[in-house]
Parts: sequence; C-alpha cells; structure tokens
Amino acid sequence: MRTDAYLTHLIFLLLVSVAVLHAHASQKAQLENVAVLHAHASQQAQLEKFILSRRARTSSSEASLHGWSGVSVRSSLQVRAGYLGSDQSALKAADKIPALPGQPKGVDFDQYGGYVTVDEKNGRALFYYFVEAPQDASSKPLLLWLNGGPGCSSLGFGGMLELGPFRVNNDNKTHNMHHNRTIINLQGILVGNPYLDRYKNQKGRFEYLHSHGLFSDEVLANVTSHCNFNSSDAEACLRTTDWFYYGPVDPYNIYAPICIDEPDGSYHSSSYLPGYNACDYYPTVTYLNNPLVQEAFHARKTEWGGCTDLGWKDAPDSMVPTLKWLIKHGLPIWLFSGDFDAICPLTATRYTIQDLNLSVTKPWRPWTANMEVGGYVQQYTGGFTFVSVRAAGHMVPSFQPERGLILLHYFLKGVLPPFTQE
Ligand SMILES: *[C@@H]1O[C@H](CO)[C@@H](O)[C@H](O)[C@H]1NC(C)=O
Ligand SMILES: *[C@@H]1O[C@H](CO)[C@@H](O)[C@H](O)[C@H]1NC(C)=O
Ligand SMILES: *[C@@H]1O[C@H](CO)[C@@H](O)[C@H](O)[C@H]1NC(C)=O
Ligand SMILES: *[C@@H]1O[C@H](CO)[C@@H](O)[C@H](O)[C@H]1NC(C)=O
Ligand SMILES: *[C@@H]1O[C@H](CO)[C@@H](O)[C@H](O)[C@H]1NC(C)=O
Repeated sequence: MRTDAYLTHLIFLLLVSVAVLHAHASQKAQLENVAVLHAHASQQAQLEKFILSRRARTSSSEASLHGWSGVSVRSSLQVRAGYLGSDQSALKAADKIPALPGQPKGVDFDQYGGYVTVDEKNGRALFYYFVEAPQDASSKPLLLWLNGGPGCSSLGFGGMLELGPFRVNNDNKTHNMHHNRTIINLQGILVGNPYLDRYKNQKGRFEYLHSHGLFSDEVLANVTSHCNFNSSDAEACLRTTDWFYYGPVDPYNIYAPICIDEPDGSYHSSSYLPGYNACDYYPTVTYLNNPLVQEAFHARKTEWGGCTDLGWKDAPDSMVPTLKWLIKHGLPIWLFSGDFDAICPLTATRYTIQDLNLSVTKPWRPWTANMEVGGYVQQYTGGFTFVSVRAAGHMVPSFQPERGLILLHYFLKGVLPPFTQE
C-alpha cells in the first residue's frame, strides 16, 4: 500500500461528491475509450468537444440565467439545511458503505453511497458519495464538491484524484489520507479554475500559452489579427491546436509530468513530481469498474468512465450574468485559480472578473503557506474574492494539497488567507 508522504498533509472533514451516472444506454458507448486515454487528455477532450459543440450564439439570455442561478442557490442552501434529516434515517442506513474493497484499516469515519432521484418520470438520478466527519458530524458544515468537464465524474476525479479520503494504488487497493478535524462553516460558493466565458476563456488561453513560452510572438499576433473573441469568430479561434502544436505538455498543468503509454500496454510517469502521479487515472478506472467496488458504493452496474457527453447545447456563453445575480443576492463567491493551468487559466478568469465591473476593496497581495507564497488574493465589493494558488494546475488539490487546504480553510472561515512574514 502506497503512503504518499506529501499528501498526508491533506486533511478533510467532510466531503460530498456527486457524479452524474448515465441513466441511458446511449451514453455508454462514449465511455468505452476512456480507459485508453490519459486522465487529463480525457478531460481536455471533453472541454474541447464541449466548446466546439456549442451553437454559435450571442450572449446568454435572461431565461437561462434564471434557470441556472435559481437552481444552484436553492439546492446548495437546501443541502445545508436539510440533508440527513430524521425522516431520512432509513435511507441513510441503507446507503451506508461498510467498507470499500481494498480499504485500509483504521478508517474512523462513516461513508455513504447511493442515488438521489432528480427526475423520477424520466428516470434521472444523481449518484453521490458522502464522507462524514469522524466526530459530531451533524454539527459540521457540508462541503458539496462538483467537478466540471462538463460531464466529468466528481467521484472519479474529485473523490479519487483530488480531495477524497482515498487514492487507488496500482495494486487495486485504496490507501488512506490523513484527516484534520478542524470545525469550519460553509458560507458560500468556491469555484476553481472555472470555465466562465466561451470567448474570454479562449482569449486567456492564447495569452497564457504565449506568456508561458508555448506560443511565439508570431503565433499570438496571427491569432489576435484573426480573432475578436466574440461571436463573429471562425471556429479555428476556439481551437488552440489549429494555430500551433505545442507538443506533449499536460495543458492542465504545463509543468507537471505526463503519463507515457508504452506500446506493450504499460505506462509510467514521464518524470517525478512529489505527491503526484500522472498515471493515477488508470488504476482509478480499473478500481471503479470492479463489480465489487460498484456494489460497495451502492452503484448500479455500469461501465464507468471519467467523463460522459452530456450533449449540452444551450449552455450560456458567459457566466457573468449568473455571477452578478449571485453577488447581488449576497452570496459570497470565491474564484480560485491554479496558476499552472492552461485550460481555464488565471488570465481567462481575470477577463471575466473585469466584465463583472466590481470595485476592488482589498488589493492584490500574496498569501503564505509555510512562509512562502501560496498564491495571491484580491477582494472586491460584495465579498467577491479571487485567489490564485501558486504552482497548482487545473485540479488544485491534486497538485498543491496543502495550499488548497489552506484556501478552503479560510474560505470556510470567510477570511482572506493571511500573509505571514518571517
Ligand atoms: C488490478 O485489476 C486489473 C483488472 O481487474 C488486473 O488486470 C490487474 O492484474 C490487477 N492488478 C493487481 C496488482 O492485482
Ligand atoms: C466583435 O469584435 C469586433 C472587434 O472588437 C467588433 O468590431 C465586432 O462588431 C464584434 N462582433 C460582434 C458580433 O460582437
Ligand atoms: C495563421 O494561422 C492560420 C490558422 O491556423 C494559418 O493557416 C496561417 O498559415 C497562419 N499565418 C501565419 C502568417 O502564420
Ligand atoms: C462599471 O461600474 C461603473 C461604476 O460603478 C459604472 O459607472 C459603469 O457604467 C459600469 N460599466 C459597465 C460596463 O457596467
Ligand atoms: C488542520 O488544518 C488547519 C488549516 O490548515 C490547521 O490550522 C490546523 O492546525 C490543522 N489541524 C491539525 C490537527 O492538523
């Protein structure tokens, strides 16, 4: 069993991971290739496909705004207030997971898995995995963690590769992570390396790839002379690879090792980064496809894959109206950015923040973790906060677990991560 010294810093109280399990057979076919793709490649392909599948439209309408923002606020508040109420104790007992196959000894928290019906008529349900705090669980805040994609699994990525209590080893067993029992309160929405605006995201990506040495001045000049980053653009303006092939780099963390596939079917990480294994996705896929594991999770028998095609065609081009609505209604929103991510990079998030047209209340400053810079932070009117996490990729907890934990800790406290000088 692997013990990951670096990751033992990572400590979590409570995690809810929700994954959409495909209710219909038509989606199953799309999952079959997933096991042969790199972890990040499968997510990247998913986002690229999503961007290109969307109808060229002008900016999002008020109708889609109300549909979305209403749902997200209501459900997060309901979850906080009502989950695991007394009338649900029978359901709770049925969903309890005695142990996952390969689980290490000494696990001192309860875990649950099962389905939450969201549309009975159409047979739609969400799969969830819930890890309870070891003590006084009912008084602890609830953290609901959702991965993007769109259509990528919160269980497989968030739960197994980012911040869940276990990681899958190459021997098909899980190992334990360290637990921290600090009591904190959930107070708002925290979104990491978000895809916020169809056009601004591309603009920020080109700028990021150029400023980090992956694109030349000439390529950037070519892009900027052909693309306006609005709905007048040709499709090529939404594809970085049409302009320049930057080689085998993980765009989700341009400084991380990548997973190398050998012709004989074996695979290995291209280099070493403490606490991170570029090939961790493979054993996770194997583990989650083990029938005993699926049974232990109370999941339907399924061919599990990291991402599924939701066929989502009417997503808004921009989340700016939704963000404005949430800020106006007093919900604290923190956006964070792992600054090694080239997919939804810090530069893109900044463009969207500019579009929110907020006033700065606490200007950009470093925050520290272990006496060095963990990232930077700036706060705006309405408590809107932008935090960067230094040397983290798209999946911040996978790359910088300690910095990610500090960020989460201060978000839950509603206080900006501090700057501590020696
Ligand atoms: C893990 O499971 C896979 C698929 O069931 C199997 O091929 C492989 O040999 C197993 N590895 C170990 C070390 O047991
Ligand atoms: C796109 O941006 C260009 C340059 O700013 C502008 O001239 C054009 O009118 C815009 N097109 C649309 C559809 O917004
Ligand atoms: C600019 O990019 C386009 C599309 O990728 C390409 O066809 C063209 O050759 C490029 N032009 C220059 C001058 O690099
Ligand atoms: C941005 O905010 C300023 C000051 O509140 C206001 O004068 C301006 O019209 C706003 N601009 C946009 C595009 O909303
Ligand atoms: C748990 O994490 C918080 C935030 O990083 C830290 O302040 C606290 O000391 C940790 N507690 C333990 C027992 O490790």
